[in-house]
Amino acid sequence: MATPTVTRLVLRSAYNPRNLAGFIKFYSSQAPSYEFIKVEKAGEKKNVGLITLNRPKALNALCDKLVTEINDALKSFDKDETVGAIVLTGSEKAFAAGADIKEMANNTFSQNIQGQFLVGWDGVSRTTKPVIAAVNGYALGGGCEVAMMCDIIYAGDKARFAQPEVTIGTIPGAGGTQRLTRAVGKSKAMEIVLTGNQITAEEAEKAGLVSKVFPADKVVDEAIKLGEKISSHSQLTVAMAKDAVNTAYETTLQQGLNYEKKMFWGTFATADQKEGMSAFAEKRKPNFKNE
Ligand code: CAA
Repeated sequence: MATPTVTRLVLRSAYNPRNLAGFIKFYSSQAPSYEFIKVEKAGEKKNVGLITLNRPKALNALCDKLVTEINDALKSFDKDETVGAIVLTGSEKAFAAGADIKEMANNTFSQNIQGQFLVGWDGVSRTTKPVIAAVNGYALGGGCEVAMMCDIIYAGDKARFAQPEVTIGTIPGAGGTQRLTRAVGKSKAMEIVLTGNQITAEEAEKAGLVSKVFPADKVVDEAIKLGEKISSHSQLTVAMAKDAVNTAYETTLQQGLNYEKKMFWGTFATADQKEGMSAFAEKRKPNFKNE
């Protein structure tokens, strides 16, 4: 995890070689400890944040604490200047088997409204840096919805996607009726949502839900490689490009084109645009400083 400047200064002053145990205890108290996720930096330059859902007994069912931890880790990576992209993955058996059915089974309508149930799930879609889902196994219900909040989905060849909520007496509640329809069109989305049937990774790719399919044991590595490629660009430019693409979901074509033009013009206010274009003319690699 990134160490903020203030913490770095405190750490330096806390370090005493004669009291290493005390220092380790101090440092451990600063690093976030998670119950249901693993967090690390991946890639040759350690510039890709990797979040692995780790609640194997429940096939990574998204209980409240798991979602809170994902949101927390995303926020930390978003602030970490050394990280240019984030990969979100699960296990070989399950990316996530949905919202935690046992946790929500007894919710009442008034509890849902008063507690704004699932409203806080949108941490992935509020992340500025690109988030890549590396999906193996089940991505069902809320699992499919979290994958769809990501900017790019890579899938292992055994991955299965579904919105099975209708089979347990409810409907998708974290974007499944909206993001899926935008991704695959009305007829396919209706078929998936109204039957609860699972679709294969190959079908998901054909439908435009998934960007690429890889052998199951390669998908995380490929997602990290993609993250490294994205991280090699200016983080400012990448954020502006991501924002512009996302705007296509929110506006009319003309409004989107106007927005894109303003963002394009805006890139010329960055030092990284000057560096990128000078490097091209000078036939060298650009050295982006995210400025
Ligand atoms: N919530 C809570 N627990 C879950 C879960 C979920 N969504 N999915 C799996 N689990 C638990 C099971 O209860 C089981 O726990 P126990 O061993 O304590 O009984 C454990 O994970 C292993 O699951 P199974 O024994 O069922 O494993 P399987 O290989 O036979 O089946 C499966 C796998 C097809 C994914 C099946 O577990 C399943 O159908 N899960 C539920 C999928 C689902 O309906 N998801 C949608 C949830 S609603 C939602 O997500 C709403 C929303 O929009 C946010």
